Amino acid sequence: MKFTTPATTNPIDQLKVVGRATDRIDGPMKTTGTAPYAYEHQAPNAAYGYVVHAGIAKGRITSMDVSEAKRAPGVLTVVTADTAGKLGKGNFNTAKLLGGPEIQHYHQAIALVVAETFEQARSAAQLVRVKYDQQKGAYDLAHAKDGAKPPSGDDNKDSKVGDFAGAFAASPVRLDANYTTPDQSHAMMEPHATIAAWEGEKVTLWTANQMIDWSRGDVAKTLGIAKENVRLVSPYIGGGFGGKLFLRSEALLAALGAKAAQRPVKVALARPMMFNNTTHRPATIQRIRIGATREGKISAIGHESWSGDLAGGGPETAVLQSKLLYAGPNRMTKMRLAVLDLPEGNAMRAPGEAPGLMALEIAMDELAEKLKMDPVTFRIINDTTVDPAKRDRKFSQRRLVECLRSGADKFGWSKRSPQPGKMRDGRWLIGMGVAAAFRNNLVQKSAARVRLDGKGIVTVETDMTDIGTGSYTIIAQTAAEMMGVTLDQVVVKLGDSDFPVSAGSGGQWGGNSSTAGVYAACVKLREAVAQKLGLNAAEAEFAGGAVRVGGKSIALRKAAEGGDVVAEDLMEYGDLDKKFQQSTFGAHFVEVAVDAYTGETRVRRMLAVCAAGRILNPKAARSQVIGAMTMGVGAALMEDLVIDHRGGFFVNHDLAGYEVPVHADIPHQEVVFLDETDPISSPMKAKGVGELGICGVAAAVANAVYNATGVRVRDYPVTLDKLL
Ligand code: MOS
Repeated sequence: MKFTTPATTNPIDQLKVVGRATDRIDGPMKTTGTAPYAYEHQAPNAAYGYVVHAGIAKGRITSMDVSEAKRAPGVLTVVTADTAGKLGKGNFNTAKLLGGPEIQHYHQAIALVVAETFEQARSAAQLVRVKYDQQKGAYDLAHAKDGAKPPSGDDNKDSKVGDFAGAFAASPVRLDANYTTPDQSHAMMEPHATIAAWEGEKVTLWTANQMIDWSRGDVAKTLGIAKENVRLVSPYIGGGFGGKLFLRSEALLAALGAKAAQRPVKVALARPMMFNNTTHRPATIQRIRIGATREGKISAIGHESWSGDLAGGGPETAVLQSKLLYAGPNRMTKMRLAVLDLPEGNAMRAPGEAPGLMALEIAMDELAEKLKMDPVTFRIINDTTVDPAKRDRKFSQRRLVECLRSGADKFGWSKRSPQPGKMRDGRWLIGMGVAAAFRNNLVQKSAARVRLDGKGIVTVETDMTDIGTGSYTIIAQTAAEMMGVTLDQVVVKLGDSDFPVSAGSGGQWGGNSSTAGVYAACVKLREAVAQKLGLNAAEAEFAGGAVRVGGKSIALRKAAEGGDVVAEDLMEYGDLDKKFQQSTFGAHFVEVAVDAYTGETRVRRMLAVCAAGRILNPKAARSQVIGAMTMGVGAALMEDLVIDHRGGFFVNHDLAGYEVPVHADIPHQEVVFLDETDPISSPMKAKGVGELGICGVAAAVANAVYNATGVRVRDYPVTLDKLL
């Protein structure tokens, strides 16, 4: 099915099941530990692999002696770049997943020791003797900044509207400030883990992966085998946050290890290896210039961002939202990319907008103060209904103003003192902050297969993943709504490359796109069922486990009496997303308390108001958003990969040193979804919401800290040493 015109009324709009706050159907399995994660898959006769990681950041291996390791008890084989044969390069990796002799980053995988037990593999891994010729690397973005180059790719080009420099210089009220965001790590609960098993030419990987089809393709490309010979299975995933979008070293090494050992092989990355071996969100340096009239109308807005990555990598696209969020006739954005020898940078938790808004939304707060204007009002008067660069291009939906207004009301914004340092509760300085939230809405084609059996059970199969987001539940809701059955009459099977290729989980496109694919398959199933029952599908009503036309009602299961009825379809998109700008909007409000003597910050209250199309399951969506808000607090106050500038690695590479907040750190978190449908996004009329939840949060916290203390911190995280 091709989605080319705005959605009209369709069976989803009944909202008997879709749009209802529904418990996650996988919840009991998750909370009782019975949902099998990749490493827990039962693989009889499996051996254990332990990864050996490079001890330098840049240079070459001059010798690697594995003989002692090979003789160690229980060892079956040792895989290195020398023994692995020729490996290709996948589409989604910058650094090689198995390094050597060249070393591209610290903790790059250089060998896999396979043994009968995990302990034997780990013990033998210590016996691999490696000598290096260490070279000097570049690890400091501030230092490399001046040599940074324009990144490739059309979306990454410099953008210009009107005369930014002239208008900025002529503006009576101006802000010109630099902001920095540090390197950050996904730090998901479940480490990267894979079990690989070969059967002849075919390899199966039980793995933790967000994007089954991308990674299936990259396994094939890297190993130089046909994609048909690769199967990926990833039914339950313990968090991804972008870290599991791509094929990673443990999966490749499990496949290579299993081939060499001729046994299934299990590999999990040890926690202290995850921070340097895998990808991370790259640090940024951002310069923001905004010029306004005395009445507070933005006349010029400029956003520049510098980030770094390994050669061949990409930028952190922190300027994207600044093209679209506020009005203003004169504009510019610019990104520059430096080559750094740190571990590979890549997507994490709303890449682009999340760190971009960390800077932009402090800048907006600073300029509002210069204007002596309320920061909510300042944002509202600079709203735009069109893409400021292409003025004939409207937003499909844009209710930023309503998010800001209703949020301010609900939060009690009027109680905020515009002057910093004026509100106090005993030893605590109290402050309130606001920020706009913005994240683009992407749609991805997505396929599904649906099957009706003789008992009236509808089974959905798609390679969509559930990374803790609620995919199982919203897909079941979609099928139940479309086929007129209850939720317990739907079975959802996900995360297997034997199923039709879905949108996968990334870029907050998964919920809307994958359910749209299920919708398309269900439209076909309705037609097939109606035909079997001799009814006209266009007139048929599917409800209460029956199909009705006029006065006639036939049980749905009757259609499958002669055998299962199966339908498969793919939802594809035309150019609606070109004609309209599709984005999601929100407003974050935060109240903090800062200890006047120690500088310790506590977040007391948070409110997010989101406008993100139809909310398919308000309960699951709220969980997504409060999780994202908590991560935003991490970005604001805690998360910081500290670089060792001599060794070129992240020092705090475990959860003791890399701290993240949890829900219990924040007493009150509230989420309001505006009642919205977006007929441009898909027949579901839904949009992404998970990543919107983090966008803007950190700036709202930083602005609240400023309001509490009068100390403006422009370098994240806002730690107490910067306040004293
Ligand atoms: Mo997301 S950072 O695209 O998983």
